[in-house]
Order: sequence, then C-alpha cells, then structure tokens
Amino acid sequence: MRSIAIIGSTGSIGRQALDVVRANPQRFRVAALAAGSNVERLAQQANEFRPDLVCIGGATLTADLRSLLAYGPPEIVSGSEGLRRVAVGCGADVLLAASDGMAALHGVVEALASGKHVALANKELLVAAGHLLCPLARSAGATLVPVDSEHSAIFQCLQGEDPACVERVVITASGGPFYDLTGADLEWVTPKQALRHPVWSMGPKNSLDSATLMNKGLEVIEASYLFGLPPGRVEAVIHRQSLVHGLVFFCDGSVKAQLASPDMRLPIGYALAYPERVPEAVAEEETRRALGLAGAAASLTFEPVDATRFPAVSLACAALAKGPPYPAVLSAANEEAGRAFLRGQIRFTDICRLVERALASYAGPGRTLEDILAADRFGRASVREAIDAAVRH
Ligand SMILES: NC(=O)c1ccc[n+]([C@@H]2O[C@H](COP(=O)([O-])OP(=O)(O)OC[C@H]3O[C@@H](n4cnc5c(N)ncnc54)[C@H](OP(=O)(O)O)[C@@H]3O)[C@@H](O)[C@H]2O)c1
Repeated sequence: MRSIAIIGSTGSIGRQALDVVRANPQRFRVAALAAGSNVERLAQQANEFRPDLVCIGGATLTADLRSLLAYGPPEIVSGSEGLRRVAVGCGADVLLAASDGMAALHGVVEALASGKHVALANKELLVAAGHLLCPLARSAGATLVPVDSEHSAIFQCLQGEDPACVERVVITASGGPFYDLTGADLEWVTPKQALRHPVWSMGPKNSLDSATLMNKGLEVIEASYLFGLPPGRVEAVIHRQSLVHGLVFFCDGSVKAQLASPDMRLPIGYALAYPERVPEAVAEEETRRALGLAGAAASLTFEPVDATRFPAVSLACAALAKGPPYPAVLSAANEEAGRAFLRGQIRFTDICRLVERALASYAGPGRTLEDILAADRFGRASVREAIDAAVRH
C-alpha cells in the first residue's frame, strides 16, 4: 500500500489522480490533500478519502473547511507552511505535485532534497526551475517521475537504457483545435473555441496552451531539463491522432515510441506506482483496449510544427537556449497573457506577441530560486504594462 499526498487535488490532474486511487484501494491510500480556494470540493474529497492532513490556500478559509468536514478530526493547515507539511511533513510515500503556477515550489524542493518519490505534473515549476530541481533530484537520490503524457512516454522509453546512447527525443502535439486555421482566421478565434480541445480533457490554462501550442513549447523546455538534453536534441511534431506520446532516437538508429489512449489517468497511475504498473489505472475496459493496431492506430501521421502560424514552440526554444531565468519569463508572461485573452482583453495571436515582447525586454541573468521568482514577476508585469498601455491609447 502506497500513501499519496496531492497538492492541487481539486484540479483536473488532482481529480484524475483520485480516480486512480478510487479504482485501486488495495494499492493506494491518500495521506494528505491540498487545494487553493475550492473549499467545497476539497471537503468533499477529504470526506471520501479521509486523509490525516488537509491544506487550503488561505488561512481565512480554514474555518469554512472545518465546518464541511464530516470525519475526524484531520489536521487542517494553510498557506505555504501548510504546503510544506503536505510535501514533506505527512509521512506520505509519494508526493503528487499537481497545482498550477509556482505555489508548490518550496514544497517540491524540500521533497526532492529529502529523497522522496515525487510525481510531477506542475509544468510551470519544471519550466522555471527545472535546472535546479532535476540536478537536486539526482544528487539527493529522489525519484522524480513526470506526469505529463509526453514526458512519461520518454521516461518509459528510457527505462533500462544508457542515457549516453540517446541521440534525441521527440514529443508529439495534437495540434489543438485551431491547427487547420489560417493565420488570418487565428486573429479572431474566441476563448470559448480555444477551450474546446479536440482530444484531451484539461483545465482552462492547459486547454488554451494547447490551442496556442505554448503547451508544446513548455514541454520542450521540461524535456530538456528532465532528460539532460540540450535544446537542439528535443523536438516537437504534430501528430493528430494523439496515440504516440513520445519517441526516443538512439545512437544505433533504433527508435522507441510509447503509445496509449489519450487519457491522463494512465501516466498519472504510472507516476504514482513507478516502477510498477497499475492494471486498473483506467477503470473503463474500452480505454485500456482502444489501441488495436487495426483500429485507431492503423494510420499514424507526423508533421513539423508550422512556426509561422504557431510561434510558441520557437519562442520556448529561444528562451531555453538563452538559459535560466528566461524560461520563467516565458511561462509567466504566457500565463498572464492567456488570462487576458480569456477575459476578452486581447486577441489570441497577441498571446505570443506579448510573450515575445517580455522575453526581449528582460535583461537579468540568474539561476537561483530568488532570480526565478523575480523573473516570474517581471514576465507578468511586462504583459500587464503592455495591455494597460494599449488600453490607454
Ligand atoms: N490537465 C492536464 O491534462 C495536464 C497535463 C499535463 C500537465 N498538467 C499540468 O499540471 C498542473 C495542474 O493542471 P490542471 O489542469 O490540473 O490545473 P487546474 O485544473 O487549474 O488545477 C489547479 C490546481 O492547483 C490548485 N492550487 C492553486 N493554487 C494553489 C495553492 N496555493 N495551494 C494548493 N493548491 C493550489 C487548485 O486549487 P483550487 O481548485 O482550489 O483553486 C487546483 O486544485 C499544471 O501545471 C499543468 O500545466 C496538466
């Protein structure tokens, strides 16, 4: 029995992780749950899984949370100290970092430093601080297993392989809802259209990032850090069927690929149970069997990313090549611009323009946690200033 602590349990990844736990009660137990502000859903989850520790973002929400808990009493904590307790102070075997943004940074650093098994979904953390987190995991002997389907695919392909024999890795992109649109049409797409992903079911931030292809740009950066490969040896390609999630090209000309139905519960289950596999990670028999070679996987297509219509991957590669903290500027500017698009303040194509502007105007080197947090603030402020200036004109 493995005990799991989840930061971000109320989000898309967190809820799917609890689906995996629910389907495998003999294998997993929930030790701690943490969320930002969704008190009702957190209480509902806690009442079902009965963890000893429950954490909510703000101290002002703890009384509401306590009033909704129907077992107990569990310990209720809040804020960054609460997240630290969830990460390293609750005795869980595995920490699943599934919040968005940078809130879990210090908790994840401590978990890795103490040699824990960390299943990492939190993309923004890895993009901004992968140059610190990955070497820390290696030096502390921690087990860092990626949750993102593409990185999980590459991680799985690398099992038993000598990293020195890896020539390059390729991650795939579905292309999102707009891949067939012209550049002119992209100017006018709406937030509602952008949130309708054709294949994956995700939260709003990830759905929008898939529509701009920034998701793939962020994933190129993540892959570079996770697998210790320089920018030129990580590539993204469009693969509309979303069945091949990642490929590894080896020095002898062999290529390994990982295929699976596009269901996040598979890589989540893998990351929680690693090095074992979970036969019932997905309860539905049809999802487990969907990959018949005569069926959906009969014709697999791959094409290069169109960098003119979708500049996000090139922007991310440029930020990666410049080194830390540019990926943090990119990620933060993208998050802020994405929010502005969803509020109707800017056009879809402005998102990458604003990210490019933030990257071009940043001039501070720096690799420390403080430098990264400063770069994150700069990326957000740069986007807000540009939007405010446009409104004033
Ligand atoms: N969704 C996917 O398919 C997918 C795939 C690969 C990677 N990822 C990455 O995984 C992460 C989560 O994605 P998601 O789609 O699950 O996002 P989401 O649905 O927006 O959920 C975010 C979660 O983080 C929690 N949170 C926010 N601030 C917090 C804080 N200060 N303390 C504790 N929890 C906090 C939220 O709590 P509240 O609900 O209370 O606000 C929520 O539970 C992101 O980094 C994303 O890029 C997602």
